[in-house]
Amino acid sequence: MEYAISLRNITKLYGGLRAVDNFSLDVRSETIFGLLGPNGAGKTTLIKILTTLMHPTSGSASVEGYSILTDDKAVRRLIGVVPQENNLDRYLTARENLALHARMHGIRSRDYNPRIDELLELFGLSGRQHDFPDTFSGGMQRRLVVARALIHNPRVLFLDEPTAGLDPQSRRVLWEHIQSLRSTMTIFLTTHYMDEAEELCERIVIMDHGTTLVDGTAEELKERFAHSHLYELEFRANSDRYEGVLRAFSFIESFERRGNVFRLVLPAEEFLKPLMDGIGSADIKRICLEEPSLEDVFIGLTGKKIRE
Ligand SMILES: Nc1ncnc2c1ncn2[C@@H]1O[C@H](COP(=O)(O)OP(=O)(O)OP(=O)(O)O)[C@@H](O)[C@H]1O
Ligand SMILES: [Mg+2]
Repeated sequence: MEYAISLRNITKLYGGLRAVDNFSLDVRSETIFGLLGPNGAGKTTLIKILTTLMHPTSGSASVEGYSILTDDKAVRRLIGVVPQENNLDRYLTARENLALHARMHGIRSRDYNPRIDELLELFGLSGRQHDFPDTFSGGMQRRLVVARALIHNPRVLFLDEPTAGLDPQSRRVLWEHIQSLRSTMTIFLTTHYMDEAEELCERIVIMDHGTTLVDGTAEELKERFAHSHLYELEFRANSDRYEGVLRAFSFIESFERRGNVFRLVLPAEEFLKPLMDGIGSADIKRICLEEPSLEDVFIGLTGKKIRE
């Protein structure tokens, strides 16, 4: 199958709020797809719709060819889900959590026990398998939730902010696990970490207010932004005075200061000369053209204002 996930004109209203707005998308089989967007953009709502936890207000979608509306049981058999909030059963041990999930998928104990052993080992949880999730660190709980989502060998794995709140070590461990699944299943993940999206995803969609803003590889998205001429300018001294000078240039499109370092966006290369003429070169330590980062693209598209 060429596409593991297809969405057609999905809209979701919560009362008067349009959380997802006529959203369409096709995700290729056995690829890692990343959905990015500010708080409240509609990512979790889309995942809830695709994992059959919620009906869309209108539109249709399919997972592995099965309709989320009319074949929801078939969809649920084929997917693994790591929700945004850990939803482990706190009255069951780590192992029991995995076993319960396997039984819910109709797997027999002689089949699931070796699978559980394998996953506990893989996720470094064997030594704590008889402990309750409440006694685990955030990173261990997250690894357990991912292990649980993999028990029944899903064809499509949904990961809603899989590494939120984890330390850099735990994030990297999870990245390695996700990388190791590459080409064995389709992975649909959301994240607020730009490095995570760049590291893992072969395709990225940035969404806001329920709709797609851009779609492509990390390189393509940055390339599309490269036309905005982003310069980094560092002064040796007198930065406060130069801030005033820079602010007076009306052609500077955007402006950010950290200590003696300024990041400026110019409309075009031609504006570099008037800029340099205006400030003189005496106190300049360094000026360089910056490659836009994925975060520049994200902020450029979704703005700097804080969300819900
Ligand atoms: N059950 C609900 N009832 C009413 N409004 C909701 C409900 N769930 C989500 N919303 C609203 O829908 C919008 C989209 O929420 P959603 O959780 O899908 O965003 P998100 O992109 O996952 O955000 P985050 O990055 O914070 O997880 C938000 O404005 C949110 O407040
Ligand atoms: Mg969310």
